[in-house]
Amino acid sequence: MADTDRLAVEHVPLHRPGLTPPDLDAQALPQHVACVMDGNGRWANSRGLPRTEGHRVGEATMMDVIAGAVELGIPELSVYAFSTENWRRSPAEVRFLMGFTRTVLRSQTDDLDRWGVRVRWVGREPRLWKSVLSEVRRAERITAANTGTVLNMCLNYGGRAEIADAARAMGQDVAAGRLKASSITERTVRRYLYSPTMRDVDLFIRTSGELRTSNFLMWESAYAELYFSPLPWPEFDRVQLWKAVEAYVNRDRRFGGAVDHAAQAG
Ligand code: IPE
Ligand code: IPE
Ligand code: MG
Repeated sequence: MADTDRLAVEHVPLHRPGLTPPDLDAQALPQHVACVMDGNGRWANSRGLPRTEGHRVGEATMMDVIAGAVELGIPELSVYAFSTENWRRSPAEVRFLMGFTRTVLRSQTDDLDRWGVRVRWVGREPRLWKSVLSEVRRAERITAANTGTVLNMCLNYGGRAEIADAARAMGQDVAAGRLKASSITERTVRRYLYSPTMRDVDLFIRTSGELRTSNFLMWESAYAELYFSPLPWPEFDRVQLWKAVEAYVNRDRRFGGAVDHAAQAG
């Protein structure tokens, strides 16, 4: 049994007494929220704790944020759990992250299922631990019929890897005569991404004060509204998510268009 198998996992309630989500028009809500769950290691180290303790506490934050998204009625939520670049970390930290992810999936799937969440794995297969892959596949199977929030677990995910993998698959299909190169459009590219049904990201949240996107959902976030929180991930929670969504609903999204208010007034 791996050490991470024995780690206690916190069970978070779907509703927290006294906390109600903001009353927002469902039409105005972001359809897809993406979270770069960053700052676990620094949060732990600043308390004299090992980085892994930050990952452990950050897992409860993740469940609280998922619950907050469900309460608010967010249709799709993506969480960045392990990037294709995170293999650069020490073997001990990589081993912890893989083992702990497996533990979390195993012990939280029933809660997610009860909350009506549909789990989907998004990422690339090479290097991902087989046991983690089979656990996330199990979570997908158990929650497949749920119609609530879709939770994309981005594990061994990289935005550039996703686009490169799509390009390779398109090239193979062109060579095999299944796809005409001259008819490739943005819609075609989307079909070849890891999750062709994934919505465009409306709200992209990163914690820990870092102002970068670190290769997360590059294609899907092309027009996302960015929201940066100074809090490290272990201090983030559903209330912070709701604050981000309230900031989002007050943004003016133009998608390249423009309205000449002076001309309208005249
Ligand atoms: C994010 O926290 C979690 C993962 C990358 C898995 P970090 O581990 O990046 O923590 P910091 O950013 O070093 O504090
Ligand atoms: C992004 O955080 C990856 C995850 C949250 C899984 P990182 O901590 O790996 O990103 P950088 O190194 O700050 O860009
Ligand atoms: Mg980090």
